[in-house]
Amino acid sequence: MLQDQDRIFTNIYGMADRSLKGAQSRGHWDGTKDLIGLGRDKIVEIMKASGLRGRGGAGFPTGLKWSFMPKESDGRPAYLVINADESEPGTCKDREIMRHDPHTLIEGALIASFAMNAHACYIYIRGEYIREKEALQAAIDEAYDAGLIGKNACGSGWDFDLYLTHGAGAYICGEETALIESLEGKKGMPRMKPPFPAGAGLYGCPTTVNNVESIAVVPTILRRGAEWFAGFGRPNNAGTKLFAISGHVNRPCVVEEAMSIPFEELIEKHCGGIRGGWDNLKAVIPGGSSVPMIPGKDMRSAIMDFDYLREQKSGLGTAAVIVMDQSTDVIKAIWRLSAFYKHESCGQCTPCREGTGWMMRVMDRLVKGEAEVEEIDMLLDVTKQVEGHTICALGDAAAWPIQGLIRHFRDEIEDRIKHKRVRPTAAVAAE
Ligand code: NAI
Ligand code: SF4
Repeated sequence: MLQDQDRIFTNIYGMADRSLKGAQSRGHWDGTKDLIGLGRDKIVEIMKASGLRGRGGAGFPTGLKWSFMPKESDGRPAYLVINADESEPGTCKDREIMRHDPHTLIEGALIASFAMNAHACYIYIRGEYIREKEALQAAIDEAYDAGLIGKNACGSGWDFDLYLTHGAGAYICGEETALIESLEGKKGMPRMKPPFPAGAGLYGCPTTVNNVESIAVVPTILRRGAEWFAGFGRPNNAGTKLFAISGHVNRPCVVEEAMSIPFEELIEKHCGGIRGGWDNLKAVIPGGSSVPMIPGKDMRSAIMDFDYLREQKSGLGTAAVIVMDQSTDVIKAIWRLSAFYKHESCGQCTPCREGTGWMMRVMDRLVKGEAEVEEIDMLLDVTKQVEGHTICALGDAAAWPIQGLIRHFRDEIEDRIKHKRVRPTAAVAAE
């Protein structure tokens, strides 16, 4: 278990003062000028050595991503864009950073922007995060007033501006290229990749898009060193990580822990165990709604990191851990996600636009027990036609939870079809 002194986020529960004064008393903004003085190459080198992988869900190595940015300006400005459009169902970790520890993010934004030759950074915050936007804007204003950002930020000689942009509630605007389109004032629709944003991003300029948590941990990594951060977790799964645990545990919470913590330890130490005990655990979605669920019996011995969960045909994703006990109608749970993805599809590419509708309609029949058994394989086939055939990852995200359901709970689906046994909780028609 992570010791208190190793926690990067010292105010995640909002018990301490989140103002600049409070943040400084907890060690933030300490010697920031010296960190910038390390120079671009050294900062990127440290980030690579730390092993930090992107905390937005995909787990792409952060230092490597930074190294894709041009070292010298070709006349175009460079930008850092921070993705605070946290919308993945179950995910609420960045919210806690922005609410209670906003200065970690602002200091990280300055250093990361410097490392990528960007004088401007945009934070794109989810439309529904109204209080978080207020807290973050207040912290940005404090940082400007104190000379920590703006002209000659922290006395470093580097000019840096930070802009906070409020989204309008579309899930797809969390996809990095849709986010860029939205920032440019256009409809939030994903672009084809490549080119990746480092080549042509915001306004066609070199851009890096990073998640809130990825940026907020940067100053502490630089202060304590790459080896310190890399010392947590298994190889290729380094660092501390925020886990957002919801559902049928005794005490749902957001907690910072060492990567690769055993699932059982995470739940026992921080959530007071599974509601009704471990025998009552039915399934877990370990990384936000885009990753397939894992049955409870397999999850008990799971290790919470990218590589282990990928081997289980699931993923760490955003580390939003959704726990479901035996009272859960898992078919209905996945039906609900299908409805979500259908609603949030931008409609730009056919497999996603049509496929999400198809998948939701078949799920609708399954959940009511009205389908034929053959439709299970037909549904699986539709998921395979969507997966990997779309412009952005939303198509995969819509397909994978259904594949997980069929892989692990086919018996339950067949049982419902054969016996038309719909649990009382599956009153989907009324919704
Ligand atoms: P991705 O794997 O396509 O890309 C991840 C990052 O690496 C991007 O910034 C991309 O530009 C960069 N990258 C990947 N390959 C590259 C290459 N060859 N050259 C240069 N850069 C490269 O994944 P994506 O679509 O950005 O994210 C998908 C994940 O997002 C899902 O797995 C899901 O877990 C997560 N997600 C998180 C949400 C949230 O609320 N935090 C919401 C929805 C999804
Ligand atoms: Fe839009 Fe879906 Fe295509 Fe993504 S996969 S671009 S959300 S239609």
